[in-house]
Amino acid sequence: MSTDQRGTFIALEGIDGSGKSTQIRMLSDWLQERQISVYVTMEPTDGPIGTMIRQILTGRMQADPRVIAALFTADRLDHLLNEVNGIVHKIRAGTSVIMDRYYFSSYAYQSVDIPMEQLILANAQSSEILRPDVNIFIDIEPELAMERIAQNRFHRELFEEKSRLASVREKYMEAFERLKDTEKVVMIDGNQDQKKVAQDIQAAVQEYFRFGREETAGRYRE
Ligand code: TYD
Repeated sequence: MSTDQRGTFIALEGIDGSGKSTQIRMLSDWLQERQISVYVTMEPTDGPIGTMIRQILTGRMQADPRVIAALFTADRLDHLLNEVNGIVHKIRAGTSVIMDRYYFSSYAYQSVDIPMEQLILANAQSSEILRPDVNIFIDIEPELAMERIAQNRFHRELFEEKSRLASVREKYMEAFERLKDTEKVVMIDGNQDQKKVAQDIQAAVQEYFRFGREETAGRYRE
């Protein structure tokens, strides 16, 4: 299969309150306006394993951090491989996929309890099956993230305390540094206004789409 038939795979990452959901909506609209077929999806998923994870995150179910890490890994594999709406199939069929969190979320959030090498090893199957064309990290001050969370949500989830957010951000940075030779990561300043953040994300992804390459080629011809 030629690479042009394959969909683009973009993973969006950030601490809670980074504005990821809004940016994903804006990115998806922007791509659709350019005739790109886009599928937006998230982890944890709304499948059976993801549903169990959400029960744990909201405190309705209890589990050891090692079990939580294993559930995220299993949820991810199911997300990639399941026959009904698996991502691998969609990408091969030419649909582009925007993923709200992928394995870098596990490296950042679960490494508070579990050594990061173990998490990277545990997710090796996912990275071998499908590595994002680009991981977009929306970087925001934990302070600002907390303010947004307080405004927008009715309940506080397990990972939403400020010091927790600050250490998750540090872990993201550590993971990006560790994997810099194998993963494409673009940092976006998420402290700016939403429109500017959206433009920075568009600029970061456009080279992965045919229209982006044509626009670039056009500029070179001028
Ligand atoms: P969610 O309410 O979807 O948060 P958000 O909109 O910020 O993505 O909850 C997802 C939570 O799960 C979030 O706190 C991050 C956490 N998480 C992990 O700890 N490990 C993972 O591998 C993933 C995908 C998410």
